[in-house]
Amino acid sequence: MEVKLKPKIEERYDLGNLVTFIPNKRLPIYNWFYFKEGFSRDFVMLMLDEFNLKKKSYVLDPFCGVGTTLLACKERGINCVGVDVAPLAYFVTKVKVQDYSLDKLRKELDKLFSQKFERYPIEGLSPLTLRAFSKFNLYDLIFFREKIKEIKDESIRDFFLLALINASNKASFALKDGSVVKIVDKRVPPLRKVLKRILVNMIKDLKKIKFEKCKIDVYLEDSRDLGFLKERFDAIITSPPYLNKIEYAKVYKIEYDLFFRAYKDSLRSYIGLRPKNVKDLFPELNLPDIAKAYLQDMNECLREFYRVLKPKGKVALVVAEGAFPGYAIVPTDYLIAELAHRMGFKVEKIIVVRQRIVTKDRTVKVGKARESVVILKK
Ligand SMILES: C[S@@+](CC[C@H](N)C(=O)[O-])C[C@H]1O[C@@H](n2cnc3c(N)ncnc32)[C@H](O)[C@@H]1O
Repeated sequence: MEVKLKPKIEERYDLGNLVTFIPNKRLPIYNWFYFKEGFSRDFVMLMLDEFNLKKKSYVLDPFCGVGTTLLACKERGINCVGVDVAPLAYFVTKVKVQDYSLDKLRKELDKLFSQKFERYPIEGLSPLTLRAFSKFNLYDLIFFREKIKEIKDESIRDFFLLALINASNKASFALKDGSVVKIVDKRVPPLRKVLKRILVNMIKDLKKIKFEKCKIDVYLEDSRDLGFLKERFDAIITSPPYLNKIEYAKVYKIEYDLFFRAYKDSLRSYIGLRPKNVKDLFPELNLPDIAKAYLQDMNECLREFYRVLKPKGKVALVVAEGAFPGYAIVPTDYLIAELAHRMGFKVEKIIVVRQRIVTKDRTVKVGKARESVVILKK
């Protein structure tokens, strides 16, 4: 596919692992919620160095997911704002960046586990959620959920709720497989036991990382309109949803059903999920509709990024090419770089970090899709 702009390309396959969540899996607090779509602490640290960001700088992550960028900034004493449109991601980030009193957490833990079990009615849950748990675990889960709701201090309540979300994942028959959730036949541990272990470990984790004083804010908002933010950022370090890769709302169906009921219908449209009223920014390329919509949305985001960045502000955007059955692979990195260029950004370079094998029906190899970091300067 021909694109006019010819940006500088750097191949850095040694960074491939860093744009995945894998390195975070062994890191306290970073690993409080397994988010397959996330990138790593070390990737953020690398970009903070690359952009020469110091204490008092301001960083934005407009697709903050589970808060990797915010936590890394907090370690360095760099002010950071995170935005995400998904209530679950926003919630996880908030819990991870909060400061806690260990004493209060320990007291609440003792209190929670000293309460007598009560059976709450199981109402209004989806058939999928009902199939995902044994009766025994489901009654326990609802009991703990209701008891946690009674905790008065909001940050402590959220801390416990995140532990319960993780415990419910471990104690369920559900398996996340790509974009779908499957129910599998497997042995599951008792929820109560898992919850206690997770809480004890989370409390221990809080002593393992040293954070510097800085300002960290998280917003449940849509990054196509950052009207609530001013021009103040030195850098944006982020990764938008990958084109045609994952439907975030579907994979976390059970979590939404159990813990975010009030939000369920208010989930705003995700990038790429608005195939109606599409403006084609690359008419010469004959792109699939979903790619046109995605690029239109990304264009709106880029406009906002340009507005909130200070002059000379930098952007690191982790993106991947999108694969479509019966269509060539869409070079998302080049196309976003082209849009950024039209917007007034200088495209400094595209760092190619991975080549993913693209398969049809999960077995037939149909090509390769690049994963890259697009570096821009205002
Ligand atoms: C690739 S993930 C980011 C992961 C993150 N770097 C981390 O390490 O956790 C993309 C995120 O963008 C969010 N998102 C999708 N559309 C959005 C929008 N319009 N505004 C803000 N966030 C959005 C998704 O909910 C998802 O959490």
